Amino acid sequence: MKIRQALWILCISLFVLSCSKSDDAVEVTAGVPSAYGAVNLTNDGFTANWTRVYRADKYLVDVATKADFSTLLPNYTALPVTALTLNVSGLTAGITYYYRVRAVRGESISVFSNAVAAEIISTGPEPTTALKSAANFNVGMIVRSNRLTGITSDIILREFDNITSEYEMKMDKMYPSKGTYDFTAVDKIVNYATDNKLNLHGHALIWHNSVPSWVTNFVGTNAEFEAMVKDYITTVVTRYKGKIKSWDVVNEAVDDGSGNPLRNSIFKQKMGDDYIKKCYQWARDADPACKLFYNDYNFASSATKRAAIFKIADDLKKDNLIDGLGAQMHISYKGPAASEIQAVVDGTVSRKLLMHFSELDIQANPDNDLTALTPERAISQKNKYKEVVKIFNAIPAANQYALTVWGMRDSESWLLSFWGHIDWPLMYNEDYSAKKAHTGFLEGLK
Ligand code: G3I
Repeated sequence: MKIRQALWILCISLFVLSCSKSDDAVEVTAGVPSAYGAVNLTNDGFTANWTRVYRADKYLVDVATKADFSTLLPNYTALPVTALTLNVSGLTAGITYYYRVRAVRGESISVFSNAVAAEIISTGPEPTTALKSAANFNVGMIVRSNRLTGITSDIILREFDNITSEYEMKMDKMYPSKGTYDFTAVDKIVNYATDNKLNLHGHALIWHNSVPSWVTNFVGTNAEFEAMVKDYITTVVTRYKGKIKSWDVVNEAVDDGSGNPLRNSIFKQKMGDDYIKKCYQWARDADPACKLFYNDYNFASSATKRAAIFKIADDLKKDNLIDGLGAQMHISYKGPAASEIQAVVDGTVSRKLLMHFSELDIQANPDNDLTALTPERAISQKNKYKEVVKIFNAIPAANQYALTVWGMRDSESWLLSFWGHIDWPLMYNEDYSAKKAHTGFLEGLK
């Protein structure tokens, strides 16, 4: 009995001893802070900020010019800070800096936080290197027949070697009434391209959004409708044979709805699901040397739509009726992700087709949260241009058709009327000076 009592007393003593361990014996560790994105970007610095760590005495901040922190700035090497922010200054405009932070609690120092990049805004003029001089692929711009002179033309001829008609080579403009074509604008654009040795991409023969009213309200049988479409495609492609060397034969045939069926356009209704193949066959017959493209949007952002587009390409390829795919690339600084854009390229290249990033613009204000383009957002947009160009630049040369930007000055973008709010999606300011987006394009070529 006494032994049992002795054992009980021993157990209780050991328990009390373990609980009475002094704090010193308990290991003190410091939690790991998380670094937030840099704010208050200026042309010589920024504000770093991070999360609070429980019972931290201070924080140690590193700033470097390389993401691996192999080049720490002397004044910002494990700099002790008691606050949760630090104004970093004395930096060089145009350079990207990186910062990270550790927490200190007593003798304990945490591991490093995540690293954050901060690009210091260069407020001076952007580099004016001509895009086509720096690129190993065709760089495209859209044109309008009433804008082929003056500074717009100067910039086109200086920076671009590919052009696409923004709207004048569509059915509603070329074929305004039954049996009556109007090639006035197209002839101007074709002559401008020929005179200036520019590659002219034809956009777009068949598009549900550019159907003249007499076609929408077609009077006649479906067979007569089909004969009319065949005549229209044959007439237009034959007229510009050897001058327009590539065409978007059909544009945006895939619906955005669930399962991405074919859009129920008037062409589908009156000619059947195989209207697409018929149109490509007629274009091929009219000019066998012409490169035939299928063009669509949300090619990157929707995997299901991407699959539907590739199915159209596969069907056309069986009869050698397609040569390339156009990904419009109406995107924003927020997305789609590089991996989704790469998936478009990979599927196109694996099919041995030409890739055309055909209508690139990058919204800086998709959420309408800005009333002016801030330096931070200009840099985010610049980095998205850089990312897109980098992806296109890495495409095998044999599969690169062109990278076309859908407009010159921000104020000229279709997006402003489409979304009904201010945005700055393009590469040139109102005074035609280059934006950071233009610099991003150039950096994507390196
Ligand atoms: O310039 C004339 C003006 O002189 C005339 O008074 C006025 C009224 O008729 O029309 C003006 O032309 C308009 C033009 O935009 C310039 O504002 C055309 O009617 C109008 O049809 C045209 O809209 C174009 C739209 O496609 C439809 O063709 C946009 O510019 C063009 O950016 C847009 O581009 C499409 C791509 O082709 C396909 N992918 C989507 C993209 C955006 O919708």
